[in-house]
Amino acid sequence: MQQDGQKLALVLATFGSAREQEVDFVHGIKEEFERRHPGTEVFIAYTSKIVTTKRRKKGEAANALAQVLAQLSVEGFSYVAVQSLHVAPGMEYEMLCDITRRFAQMPKGIVRTVTGPPLICNDIRAEKVARLLAADLPPERQVDEAVVFVGHGAKLPAGTLTYPALQAYLWQHDPGLFVGTLEGSLNAGCTIELLRKRGYDRVWLVPLLAYYGVHVAEDMFGAGEESWQHTFEAAGIVCKPVETTLLGRPAVVELWIESAVDAMESLALAKA
Ligand code: CO
Repeated sequence: MQQDGQKLALVLATFGSAREQEVDFVHGIKEEFERRHPGTEVFIAYTSKIVTTKRRKKGEAANALAQVLAQLSVEGFSYVAVQSLHVAPGMEYEMLCDITRRFAQMPKGIVRTVTGPPLICNDIRAEKVARLLAADLPPERQVDEAVVFVGHGAKLPAGTLTYPALQAYLWQHDPGLFVGTLEGSLNAGCTIELLRKRGYDRVWLVPLLAYYGVHVAEDMFGAGEESWQHTFEAAGIVCKPVETTLLGRPAVVELWIESAVDAMESLALAKA
């Protein structure tokens, strides 16, 4: 996108994964955006240090956010929107904002930056995501089976409210839908207690994370005693694991794209 000779760019900033399938999801978002908004230059940045290091070692392209912004600066992009592909306004998003801010008003570089919020950034979004999740439950689920969406959890105040908010909206659709978090107060023990109180002894465990990374493979479904599946089964609850992550849900991805469009629009307005 070119405006008065000053270039605009969109950066999709994602935690990243060493798994090829999810990398394809992010490239899919980039291609979809470029298809709908021809002329927009879209770049991908990874916010996880571990993921970028792992991918580099395998000889794959993996640029950190600061690296992408420095490169865009050098290439003459004056206005840059950074869209977060994170789930909640937690630590990763906070760092994304901090890094992005530092590249604004750079002499001989980027003039203005804008950041697009993570997936569940306010009550409207929590309600929308709840609606999409409730409309896309495992088809084989029986009425006496609960569905537990397991998210990362956040330590920053704004992020801590994300998951209880989603829970409130999910219950508007179906009393058998629950939200748990790997970190924070909605842990496996408290989720099990709630399931027992409500009389559920069979559950579907569904990732509420963007990627099928270590958190899903090990913390949710791993063979270790600490995993959610193991903890639930030890408590006498039958578990059915679901592999689909948030990036694998097209209707959810659409919300991230929506935010990217908004970010680009506010960038164009800031420039005008
Ligand atoms: Co983590």
